[in-house]
Amino acid sequence: MSKVTVVGAGNVGATCANVLAVNEVANQVVLIDIKEGLAEGKAMDIMQTAQLMGFDTVVTGVTNDYSKTADSDVVVITSGLPRKPGMTREELIGVNAGIVKSVAENVLKYSPNAILVIVSNPMDPMAYLTLKSLGLPRNRVIGMGGALDSSRFKYFLSQALNCNANEVEGLVIGGHGDTTMIPLTRLATYKGIPVTQLLPAEKLEEVAQSTMVGGATLTKLLGTSAWMAPGAATSFLVESIIKDQKKMVVCAASLEGEYGMNDIMIGVPVIIGKNGIERIVELELNAEEKAKLAASEAAVRKTNGILTELGVL
Ligand code: LAC
Repeated sequence: MSKVTVVGAGNVGATCANVLAVNEVANQVVLIDIKEGLAEGKAMDIMQTAQLMGFDTVVTGVTNDYSKTADSDVVVITSGLPRKPGMTREELIGVNAGIVKSVAENVLKYSPNAILVIVSNPMDPMAYLTLKSLGLPRNRVIGMGGALDSSRFKYFLSQALNCNANEVEGLVIGGHGDTTMIPLTRLATYKGIPVTQLLPAEKLEEVAQSTMVGGATLTKLLGTSAWMAPGAATSFLVESIIKDQKKMVVCAASLEGEYGMNDIMIGVPVIIGKNGIERIVELELNAEEKAKLAASEAAVRKTNGILTELGVL
C-alpha cells in the first residue's frame, strides 16, 4: 500500500492529486487544505471521474486534520499563495515562508519517515527552509522545479523543431526563477542528435528565453500561476519515488560539495527513487554554463538570506 498526501487543494495541489490518481501512482491520495470543504470537494470531484477514467486510486479530502495524512510515503507541499501577473516568485517569500514551515512541521508529526516534495514558491528557498528547520537528511527533501522547467524547455524545443516533444531531451538546471534557471541548450537532443546541429544559435536563445519566462507568460495569460504542467511535473517526480524508478530528474537538492556548492538547495540532475534523492549527477559544464550557475547560486543565496531576516530560520 502506498500513500501520498498533497497539502494545498488549490490549482496545483488538486491537479497533482488528479494526475496521481489517473496514473495510479499510489493506492491512496489524501488532499488537505485549511479552507473548509475545499479539499473534500476537489477529492469528491476527482473520485467521480474514477469510473470514467478507469482508475482505482482512492482520493480523500480533509480540512486541516493532519491525523488523516498519517504514515504517508510521500508528502507534497503546495501551500501558500501563487503569484499574480507581474510578480516574481521571490516576492512570495514573506507570506509563504511561515505557511510552508508550519505545514512541514505538521506533516512530519504524522509521517515521520515521509519524503517531502516542496512545490510552494519561491521554491528553492522553501525547500531549503524545510530541510533546515526540520533537520532532515538531504535525501528526504526535494524541491520540484526542474522537472517543470525541463518539460517547458522540451515543449519550446519541439515547437522550434516542429517535432514530437516526447522525442526531445533537455535539462534546465539552477534556481526555479525567471532569471535564475539555466536551460542547457548545448546538451539538448532530438532523437540523440544535438539540437545545436539542428537549430541556429539565435533560435536556441529564443527557446531558452521562452523557457525562462515560461511561468510568467502563463501567469499573464491566466491571471494566476499555471497548474496543469506544475501538477503533472510533481506527479511525475512522486511516481519515481513511489515506484522506485530511479529516473534522472532535475530537482532542487541540498548540495554538499557537488558543483562546488554547500549549504544551498538548487536545481541539479538527481536520481530519484524510493529513498528520495539517491544520487546527485554532476554534469561537465563549460565556462559559460558555470558562470550562469554561479549567478543563479548567488541569487538563490540572496533569497535564502531573507529567511533569516523574516525570523523563520
Ligand atoms: C510556474 C510556477 C508554479 O512555474 O512556479 O508555473
